[in-house]
Amino acid sequence: MAVDLLLGLQWGDEGKGKIVDVLTTDYDIIARFQGGPNAGHTLEFDGIKHVLHTIPSGIFHKSALNIVGNGVVIDPVIFKKELDALKKFNLDIKAKLFISRKAHLILPTHRLLDAASEASKGKAKIGSTLKGIGPTYMDKTGRNGMRIGDLEMSDWKEKYRSLANKHEAMISFYDVDIQYDLAELEKDFFDSITELKELTFIDSEEYLYQAQKSGKKILAEGAQGSLLDIDFGTYPFVTSSNTTAAGACTGLGVAPNQIGEVKGIFKAYTTRVGSGPFPTELFDEDGETMARVGNEFGATTGRPRRCGWLDLVALKYAVIINGVTELMMMKADVLSGFDTLKICTAYNYKGEKIEHLPFNIEAENVTPIYSEMKGWKEDLTKMSSADQLPATLMAYIEFLEKELEVPIKIVSVGPDRTQTIHR
Ligand code: IMP
Repeated sequence: MAVDLLLGLQWGDEGKGKIVDVLTTDYDIIARFQGGPNAGHTLEFDGIKHVLHTIPSGIFHKSALNIVGNGVVIDPVIFKKELDALKKFNLDIKAKLFISRKAHLILPTHRLLDAASEASKGKAKIGSTLKGIGPTYMDKTGRNGMRIGDLEMSDWKEKYRSLANKHEAMISFYDVDIQYDLAELEKDFFDSITELKELTFIDSEEYLYQAQKSGKKILAEGAQGSLLDIDFGTYPFVTSSNTTAAGACTGLGVAPNQIGEVKGIFKAYTTRVGSGPFPTELFDEDGETMARVGNEFGATTGRPRRCGWLDLVALKYAVIINGVTELMMMKADVLSGFDTLKICTAYNYKGEKIEHLPFNIEAENVTPIYSEMKGWKEDLTKMSSADQLPATLMAYIEFLEKELEVPIKIVSVGPDRTQTIHR
């Protein structure tokens, strides 16, 4: 059985949590492969909204097993809070949630280092979620990190101490004022580790290999979006992991020839949270309408998201880099009411028309070139089948399919599980 992937194609917040939740009935295992608690995957059903950060979005389905893969970075304190929030649902967490021994741990001092690094950058700051993601991946690639499997060794506290001491020296190197009480932070950290150690740790690459061999259906769940990929995103305004399809191979230990469908998710418009270039960003009433109707606030930080028209140049790039085989268009309902919709189909790059993403997409280099389409007025949120969708929305969908050369299989018309139209 091949492993299917589900990835965000823009700057994150496309709605991966909702779609994984919707698709989980088709899968036996949901496996997160990168990122950490910088993610906020929102799921809504039975009138309740749930936000997951590290735990895979299949957790609410009785039959699905959820795996946190080796490519993920875990903050035990946030993880414990997520587990606490799940307690009222009586899920058998020990049986439903396994963690890779090779996943790295976010220490309290990683979070402090993140804050110090951002503060030292001043106006050039990345706009990080300040969850310690960058410093943790730096320790991973620098071969200094602590892994979940280390917690099973008797000397893990010494390892922790030596790394935390090093971090404290590094924090003092930054010439910024970061106030903290490490003893307090460590108390929470050690308490949370005690709870984390109650869970099942596995060698996830071996587990997934055997699961695949025995015919289990596996869905790899991405976090953030392709344009935040450490290699292919809008560097340096990116996250610190590979958010693109290749990240599923390294973040789970799945061989490239074992990848099946690549499901790419995008919003019918574009959003971005944090700093960095965004060619189709709107600073007018249209952008405000998207933000208001789409409730565009970060699920992890609560920060307002920047909004703009759909950027097809960037979307095509993501489709190619990931080898997307199926598309899912989210938040079509948010665009209801616009007379005219704009789609960026090319860039004016230093006076020349181009249709690919150049090295540098800062506003001084790139101006979007738009095609216009007629909008739709209908309220989509109660629609349940493709034949109910207005003709102008169908024209929008068909235009995108033609440009991207990939079918749009799902159109989402609201945040709830049920507001999902399959085509
Ligand atoms: P970090 O990964 O928290 O350091 O953040 C780096 C950049 O990625 C910042 O611009 C964040 O706003 C952005 N980012 C990180 N995680 C997410 C996410 O899950 N959704 C959207 N943006 C994210």
